[in-house]
Amino acid sequence: MRRKLVAGNWKMHGLKADLPQVAAIAEAAAAHPGVDVTLCLPFTLIEAGAGVAGAMPVGAQDLHENDRGAHTGCISGPMLVEAGASVVIVGHSERRGDQHETSHDAWAKAAAGRRNGLGVILCCGETEAERDAGRAERIVQSQIEKSLPDGASGEWLTLAYEPRWAIGTGKTPTLEDIAAIHAIARAKLRQMVGDAADGIRILYGGSVTGANAAAILGTENVDGALVGGASLTAEKFVPIIAAAARAG
Ligand code: 13P
Repeated sequence: MRRKLVAGNWKMHGLKADLPQVAAIAEAAAAHPGVDVTLCLPFTLIEAGAGVAGAMPVGAQDLHENDRGAHTGCISGPMLVEAGASVVIVGHSERRGDQHETSHDAWAKAAAGRRNGLGVILCCGETEAERDAGRAERIVQSQIEKSLPDGASGEWLTLAYEPRWAIGTGKTPTLEDIAAIHAIARAKLRQMVGDAADGIRILYGGSVTGANAAAILGTENVDGALVGGASLTAEKFVPIIAAAARAG
């Protein structure tokens, strides 16, 4: 039985003035011990965020594939660990889109996260044009094939299905479409890592809110949610944590 994981991705939001939100979310996480909760913060808030998060792990949203070197503006796994991160997101569609990252980059970054003892949330998901062309399933399979790090196991790896067109738009796939992609993702994991696939959580992400969380989290093979906008305040995020607790 996979425990539900609700992960917040603050993206390029959050200043020190927002730390009380981190603390309030951590308090809610402690009140729902049956659910795993984490917040992936901007780099600049990780250390302070970890300081107010109590037992709730905090993480980052990207890292460099190398541990050190001449890479101006980049952040390495050891730096994240020193700042207090325990998790890192790789392959997010905004990195694939804005920074032109590929599945191979996501693969190398996932390996860097693992090498440094970080939990890794590996993202995949199709664009609207790919869905309209009937290619969503094939795209997700191919992204997993190219980016799944060696030795993937649920102890440190989580997959997140985030259709790009559902991110920040208020649009979500139907529950049937979510179930179909998650089943395909599970099958691809099984093909690649065998029985270890059963331990790997697959999150859904894209316009998850307190209003739709219960239905999405109740869908087969949905082991949690990766939440952007609705993770920025306790008021919006706590109902999603509570829904995950109920979905158990
Ligand atoms: P929204 O929840 O704002 O749609 O963002 C989803 C996301 O990209 C999380 O990584």
